[in-house]
Amino acid sequence: MATSIALRNIDRGVAFVVVDAADRSVNTLTAELGGELTELIGALEADDACCGAVIASGKRDSFVVGADIDRLSRLQSRQQAEEISRRAQQLLDRLAEATKPVVAAIHGPCLGGGLELALACHGRVCSDAPATALGLPEVKLGLIPGAGGTQRLPRLIGVQAALDLILTGSSVRPVAARKLGLVDEVVELANLENAAAARARLLAASHGPRDWHALLDRELANLRRWTRSAKYAELLLGGNPLGRRVLLNRGAAAVRQRSGDRYPAPYAALRAVEAGLARGLEHGLQVESEQFAELLVSPVSRRLVELFQATQALKKETGSHDPKLRARPVERLAVLGGGLMGAGIAGVAAGRGISVRIKERDAEQCGLAVQRVWSTLRRRIKRGQLDARGAAQIAARVSASGDLAGLARCDLVIEAVFEELALKSALLAQAEERVGESCVLASNTSSLPIAKLAAACRRPHNVLGMHFFSPVPKMPLLEVIRQPQTCDQALVTAVALGKRLGKHTIVVRDGVGFYTSRILAPYISEATHVLAEGAPIDAVDEALCDFGFPVGPITLLDEVGIDVAEKVSHVMMGAYGERLRHAPLLPALVADNRQGHKNRRGFYLYDGKKGDRRVDVTVYDLLPGGRRRARVNPAEVQRRLVLQMVNEAMHCLGEGILQCPRDGDIGAIYGLAFPPFLGGPFRYTDGMGAGRLVDELLRLRDRFGLRFEPAPALVEAARGGRSFYPA
Ligand code: NAI
Repeated sequence: MATSIALRNIDRGVAFVVVDAADRSVNTLTAELGGELTELIGALEADDACCGAVIASGKRDSFVVGADIDRLSRLQSRQQAEEISRRAQQLLDRLAEATKPVVAAIHGPCLGGGLELALACHGRVCSDAPATALGLPEVKLGLIPGAGGTQRLPRLIGVQAALDLILTGSSVRPVAARKLGLVDEVVELANLENAAAARARLLAASHGPRDWHALLDRELANLRRWTRSAKYAELLLGGNPLGRRVLLNRGAAAVRQRSGDRYPAPYAALRAVEAGLARGLEHGLQVESEQFAELLVSPVSRRLVELFQATQALKKETGSHDPKLRARPVERLAVLGGGLMGAGIAGVAAGRGISVRIKERDAEQCGLAVQRVWSTLRRRIKRGQLDARGAAQIAARVSASGDLAGLARCDLVIEAVFEELALKSALLAQAEERVGESCVLASNTSSLPIAKLAAACRRPHNVLGMHFFSPVPKMPLLEVIRQPQTCDQALVTAVALGKRLGKHTIVVRDGVGFYTSRILAPYISEATHVLAEGAPIDAVDEALCDFGFPVGPITLLDEVGIDVAEKVSHVMMGAYGERLRHAPLLPALVADNRQGHKNRRGFYLYDGKKGDRRVDVTVYDLLPGGRRRARVNPAEVQRRLVLQMVNEAMHCLGEGILQCPRDGDIGAIYGLAFPPFLGGPFRYTDGMGAGRLVDELLRLRDRFGLRFEPAPALVEAARGGRSFYPA
């Protein structure tokens, strides 16, 4: 499994070194690669026919995408992790200190260890291809760059810009990379190697050995640009501890605002950057590898790495056990209903090159649907994610019509009209009359059983659910729902489309609420019980935010719509009984025309500035206990709500709604924002121990009733002392 790096040829004095992991689809930075690279550098330094080198990738569409995370995740001790990081640093130091200039020729993703490799080179040229992106995403895995990234990046592009990248893990596209000084040149792919070679020759001709970095000058220029104050910049650069503090404190404040103190990695990155700035590269590298090692064996990083591995494994699955079954290509998509969801799906699909036909009620609604697609595109233009030409190309792929004309050549239909069984069934059946035999018929319903929709169709084997989340462009999950008659061919086609749209796509079995809506239901319903007992609205929300959810359950009720939640609660209770019974508060709110955010009347006030949200105290007049609210114990509120969600996930596993715990964790994290650092309901249970969870549930059952009865799958795991994942 060795990653290989080899000398391809020498052209007019420049050696072309190609990284190409023989048996892998992408290159990663490994000890083997480092060893081979060191040998190569030695040989090139000794070769008089060679004045410099270019490092390129042998992969068609990626450079080097990081370290070997599977191998890293198997390390058990902090000491081992630190040794690996030190070794990688030394290898890249050797590259940085080569006596001949080395230029990285970057095309495609250049991430993590890949960017650290490029940073150790003496020049960087990248292609202008859309696939090219540079970044240090380690914090997303609860880690920090461990091969010099926290040291070389600030030295190259300035402290502020480097912190922006390192602390968020975000990557930059070619033009932005050029502006930051992260690459020296952006060229067409066809010209990439030539441009990199020319730069290597230039460096070799115009500078003496070791002079290539010119780090201090560049640092100064960058800081000047950023601060617009030369004096301030020099103060900072001169190692003034006060100036540095300003930048680092600002970085820490931004991290705290984004994710509080739950994720230690960004703070560790700040420590490493600070150490290097205060006491030099060598000391910085030492701190970097210490921090890296500590994080690698920490529970937060373990959970985030497991989650990453889970999503990687999911990507390889097709939705069927039959390895020979191939997805039918989806080039033409029909979307029935171009409202919030339909327009969202249409826009995302068109963005991936698919032609989309929207069917709406009439010409006016068609116009509104197209406008919805455009408003998302405009937002993307504003954010710099798209240019006007690209947006026009995407919009040109979307057409709308008031009837079902133009469906004949569609490969897949997604229905996203109002949540009414009769309407959905009728429309799907009408669409089926117009499409080909193998066209997949999907519904985006959030609660109606897919089997009931299939019953209205002549070819029920083509019918399945594709449950997207709102807002569609942003939410990373797709739940594909199979009903008893769904055939594997339809399933793999829907799964392949989900992946093409960039979604983590889990396949679940049909049933009221499928998986995500189902586990959300008891969580929300428990929130209504807590409110009915007299808890203050904001205290409930704060408790769950402290647990790690981005918004609390009452805010969520306002967002989803109190009227919608009220309707769903009846459906859920009808299917699952008392366990999902709400405290009877919502009807009074609905009768008072409180629908939530959408009509600006809910639990919160929506008249103030964004971010300045206050509870609408008049809502308490409609709740038991009135305006005198009781004090709550945040830990208990957390336990009650979270265990309801976790226990329902156990029911879903036991009943075969979920195929495996992994899908349950991915679904909860990417669909409902379950805190990623806890790994999802099943990892969370493993961390706590099934036995302890059962005990907690039984205690809650004694106090609050049968809705806390532990699910059979959980009880079974507790009895057998089993965990949901292999230890
Ligand atoms: P919406 O009300 O924004 O859009 C529904 C659209 O369907 C409207 O534009 C309406 O004009 C159109 N429509 C109604 N009857 C039609 C007909 N006979 N022919 C063509 N178009 C027709 O609703 P939204 O939020 O987009 O929801 C659509 C579906 O997606 C529902 O089933 C909902 O349960 C589901 N869903 C909604 C989510 C959300 O967060 N809003 C999340 C996941 C699923």
